[in-house]
Amino acid sequence: MYETEAQVQVLVNGLNPQQQISRHIYGHFSEHLGRCIYDGFWVGDDMKVPKKDRIRLDIVDALKKINIPNLRWPGGCFADEYHWRDGIGPRSQRPKMVNTNWGGVTEDNSFGTHEFLELCNLLNCEPYVAGNVGSGTVEEMSKWIEYLNFDGQSPMTELRKQNGRSTPWKVSFWGVGNESWGCGGEMTPAYYSDQYRRYSSFAKNYPGAPLKKIASGANVDDYNWTETCMRNIGPRNMWGITLHHYTLSGGWYDKGPATGFDEDRYFGAMKSCQKMETLINRHGAIMDKYDPEKRVALVVDEWGIWTNVEPGTNPGFLYQQNSMRDAIIAANTLNIFNNHSDRVRMACLAQTINVLQALILTEKEKMLLTPTYHVFDLYKVHHDAMLLPVQFKSPEYTRGKDNIEAISISASKDSTGKVHITLANIDPNTKNDVALQLAGFKFSQVEGRIITSASYADVNTFDKPDKIKPVAFKGASVAGSTVNVQLPPLSVVVLELK
Ligand code: AHR
Repeated sequence: MYETEAQVQVLVNGLNPQQQISRHIYGHFSEHLGRCIYDGFWVGDDMKVPKKDRIRLDIVDALKKINIPNLRWPGGCFADEYHWRDGIGPRSQRPKMVNTNWGGVTEDNSFGTHEFLELCNLLNCEPYVAGNVGSGTVEEMSKWIEYLNFDGQSPMTELRKQNGRSTPWKVSFWGVGNESWGCGGEMTPAYYSDQYRRYSSFAKNYPGAPLKKIASGANVDDYNWTETCMRNIGPRNMWGITLHHYTLSGGWYDKGPATGFDEDRYFGAMKSCQKMETLINRHGAIMDKYDPEKRVALVVDEWGIWTNVEPGTNPGFLYQQNSMRDAIIAANTLNIFNNHSDRVRMACLAQTINVLQALILTEKEKMLLTPTYHVFDLYKVHHDAMLLPVQFKSPEYTRGKDNIEAISISASKDSTGKVHITLANIDPNTKNDVALQLAGFKFSQVEGRIITSASYADVNTFDKPDKIKPVAFKGASVAGSTVNVQLPPLSVVVLELK
């Protein structure tokens, strides 16, 4: 039997919603790393799955179902050693390179600019390209943008046409480097902000194709990085600045396994995940000093749990299983993003297929949807909806002498007037009864779906791919303007009020 806490009182404010939750918070990341692109999105001609060219269409269909809004590419660390001209033209003539960051494997460049943009076209999502600042030149980045976005006569448009594409793609989201404090060039914030100004001066807005330029931001709690970039670059010269924070169950040198972990690891991961709230508040406060109107987006374009790789797999490929714990991490993090959607207007989970906190795992022709995928499916109701602020005091989930918040909630109203509330009960031992009091919204019915499992370490496998998946939730009922919810331990719930 589980314990039950006293009822948690939650006020959901439906009066006069002001803030839209950008669908781009629900974005994803695809790096040339391990089996994300090769043997993930992009497979061999001999793979017996539905394909367009070499793009796997079963994967495309699954991602379309969750309305993937954007896809970041080509990295990550890979972006700062990627030279885009190697990935255009006849595939047989493309030069090979070594992927020094990820396993030292040979990259054949068969997946390049045209292939990525065709993938985004099939996914009906916006491309988010990370330009090379670390080892590339200003001219190289500038020409790439001309190749992608210019519609007039120029050497780059001629080249694009020769390669089979007459019209420009009009890419908008543009990363000026990645992790420039680390694998992107080991720069200081002062040096990077000067480099940003230089590279971005030549990252031109072509007619009908204005860029949303995104500065490479801080690693976790490097507040000085944000401060220096905001001061030296200034809010008028960037659309966004990034933040990277990975959930770790122990620490960088003690990441722990993706499966078969104990409750200490579970608790450690949840505590690390919840740090996102503090990071957004503190980076946000620095941004407020330079940008009180909140013009600049905080772009959390790498997040998710990072564990040890699966035993027997290439350590450079970062392949890890995905558990019920990871579903809770996704739910908690996405609620945090929604509730900070005035500043967080874009995010990308790392990484879509077969790498880190993946949505999809593949094994030759087989593929499975992870518990994390199902959270994105439940939460898609928040895309571009209006945020309804929630107020409540969370009960605590205690482990030894430490405690964290046990419940995470966010709410929104969509363009058809329906209200959706997403709740996560992080506590694996305690059922929580929640009373949601709605102000400014009339309703008479509630419906829900839930993701839960007996253990935080449960996973979907190729033998049992549907062990964890959303099912109907019967634990919510309407009483006047209140919805009473019995939230099982270790669960993610979405409610729809009509
Ligand atoms: O997502 C894996 C790596 O983590 C990325 O390439 C890099 O940006 C980060 O350090």
